[in-house]
Amino acid sequence: MSRRVTARAPAKAILFGEHFVVSGTRAVSSAVGAYTIVNVEEKASWPSELASRELGIRALVLGPDGSFSGPEEFRPIAFVIRALTMRGYDVPPFSLSISTEIPDGAGLGSSASVSAASALALLGLAGSDVSRDDLYSITLEGERAAHGNPSGVDPASVVHGGIILFSRERGVIERVEGVDDSLLIIADSGIRRKTYAPVTGVLNLLKRLEYFRDELLRAADSLVMMAWDALKRKRTEELGILMNVNHGLLSSIGVSTWELDAMVHAARRAGALGSKLTGAGLGGSIIALVRPESEEAVRKALSPMSRWIRIFHLGAEGAALV
Ligand code: MEV
Repeated sequence: MSRRVTARAPAKAILFGEHFVVSGTRAVSSAVGAYTIVNVEEKASWPSELASRELGIRALVLGPDGSFSGPEEFRPIAFVIRALTMRGYDVPPFSLSISTEIPDGAGLGSSASVSAASALALLGLAGSDVSRDDLYSITLEGERAAHGNPSGVDPASVVHGGIILFSRERGVIERVEGVDDSLLIIADSGIRRKTYAPVTGVLNLLKRLEYFRDELLRAADSLVMMAWDALKRKRTEELGILMNVNHGLLSSIGVSTWELDAMVHAARRAGALGSKLTGAGLGGSIIALVRPESEEAVRKALSPMSRWIRIFHLGAEGAALV
């Protein structure tokens, strides 16, 4: 019987510091319990096969160098395969299928999650052990295919799990497992965009701000550090206020939209401790921090504006073999 391996990786929600993290500030990101599941099965010979259940698409991988024939959506996996080979890992011929609960292009790390789960499943098939740091750098290669200039916060979050304090230069600086009983509501606006466009737009804007760029980055970094402190001390109300301020900063650099603003304000009005867009913006999702007693009201307020809405505890297990 041919060997089969299953791996899974979570989604992520950036709590503080997206965009600014690309320019060197710190950021806080939480893994959340919506998963990509990747199944791989050994095959007798190349080409290998890729299939995505949700997208209904297929591709062929021609060899361990990651050359492939099929839709562009599979390019991150091709980069992952090439990264595995270049690092000296054996990649036997395989048939790989992806199924995911994470909406695509919604700012929730779906591409990083697919890359991490695929890398781990393929390593499992070859019988290779991998450290979290190596899995991170392999997953980062997949992210490079997905959006050019990633800070690395998405792959770090889905690989390490929990809640991380991250910077581009230092990687994961600190990690905590979770916080108290406060909940995170994630609501996807259903508006789609590629991460590349808002990231490039923000980098260009920051360049034009000249000396004020550094002031803004300093403010964003201070905000992240205040938030990290509040999170570790379980000062949830303060965390909510800082989320609101972070949304204001993101609006000021042009990545919110009136739809996202409407959702953020609806969540606050319904009793959220704080609310902001999450990820690259210009569409995608918002997050709202809520106490259990206001969960129902906030969910009700957001539902009519959301294509996908879920409630999570902060922190979830990182990528793992199942
Ligand atoms: C995307 O999830 C987060 C951004 O900060 C880009 C990145 O850090 O790579 C917008």
